[in-house]
Amino acid sequence: MHSMRLAVLKETRDGETRVALVPETVKKLVDAGYQVAVEQGAGAGASIADESFARAGAVIEPNSSLALAGAEMVLRIGAPSDAEIAAMPEGCMLLAGLLPLRNLDAVRALRDRRITAFSTDAIPRITRAQAMDTLSSMANIAGYRGALLAAAELPRYFPMFMTAAGTILPARIFVIGAGVAGLQAIATARRLGANVVATDVRPEVKEQIESVGAKWVGIELKRSASAGGGYARELSDEDRARQQELLGDQCALADAVISTALIGGTFAPKLISAATVARMKPGSLIVDLAADGGGNCELSRPGRTVQHGAVRILAPLNLPASMPGDASTLWSRNLHAFIAAFTKEGRFHLLMDDEILHGAMITHQGEVTHAATREALER
Ligand code: NAI
Repeated sequence: MHSMRLAVLKETRDGETRVALVPETVKKLVDAGYQVAVEQGAGAGASIADESFARAGAVIEPNSSLALAGAEMVLRIGAPSDAEIAAMPEGCMLLAGLLPLRNLDAVRALRDRRITAFSTDAIPRITRAQAMDTLSSMANIAGYRGALLAAAELPRYFPMFMTAAGTILPARIFVIGAGVAGLQAIATARRLGANVVATDVRPEVKEQIESVGAKWVGIELKRSASAGGGYARELSDEDRARQQELLGDQCALADAVISTALIGGTFAPKLISAATVARMKPGSLIVDLAADGGGNCELSRPGRTVQHGAVRILAPLNLPASMPGDASTLWSRNLHAFIAAFTKEGRFHLLMDDEILHGAMITHQGEVTHAATREALER
């Protein structure tokens, strides 16, 4: 039986530095019986040389069309462009972080090319799938980098300092949303000595906030905002109005606000109004880590830093790309865990009854199989 060919391409999105597989994983896949084709220069952004991939057993191809020739599965970070989808062998498989609800055009093109597309962000959040969770791997990086960015940009100390010239009080950091990114932002800001308060709408998070050293603030919700799998749902109008008040008061007290709130892991609710920003201290700042999903602050301009009165609003995009080596290593291990779960005798098997495989599948044989994505397309 011929071995199954996997293809890793150079990512093409602006500012993307990560690569879907690193040599460590290539070796495991080759040992398991796969052939791995890597486009020349695919690892350059993450400082991984072609020779390292070759030493791990990959075949280096000079361009993307040659890497794609005969590929049965394409591995990527983000959603491919239309041109890239057109270049993929018809009917092949794709494994990537597609974020299908944000990329409906790509979903249509994948469906029409009869690609069997798996999106790592759609993998159900069950224990068996934890090692495959790219969302958590990347959110962890975003939270860490976001807190460092706040520390670097804030025109004052994070920690308390007792010096011969007297005491400097610690900065007060307010973290909105305590999922994976928020908890890591709290932990990082705490390690730098800041005073951290945090809020979330899922009530079960209070204990987690406290366990990483922050103080929980929040409102009692009339209706639970837990949507299962760690995802939040939108608040009722009444709860939203009460939360606005709390957020306004806490932002006014903070030196830096780090916001990470998402609904369903995808879209950013607008939580910080212009009126709230107007109440913030001169010299304070907001790091809007939800910028990729549109931003939590209504004044955020994703990818840019804006000054609003005496407050600076940073809305960095794709923070994981600012740590491409570690980000690629984690991503690659997540993809490997997914592939390994369905590998028998060196081949990837479509076990259609498996909860993980079925949950991750977005398109198959010309149909959109993922229910939420299908509904969004029909709307
Ligand atoms: P996320 O990225 O979807 O959202 C970030 C946070 O924002 C969430 O905690 C959410 O509750 C919060 N949020 C939403 N609307 C808000 C609002 N109006 N105000 C304040 N906060 C708001 O979530 P993420 O980080 O992907 O995952 C959240 C949780 O899921 C994790 O902390 C973990 O407990 C759980 N999880 C479980 C897994 C498993 O069981 N295998 C795997 C991964 C995560």
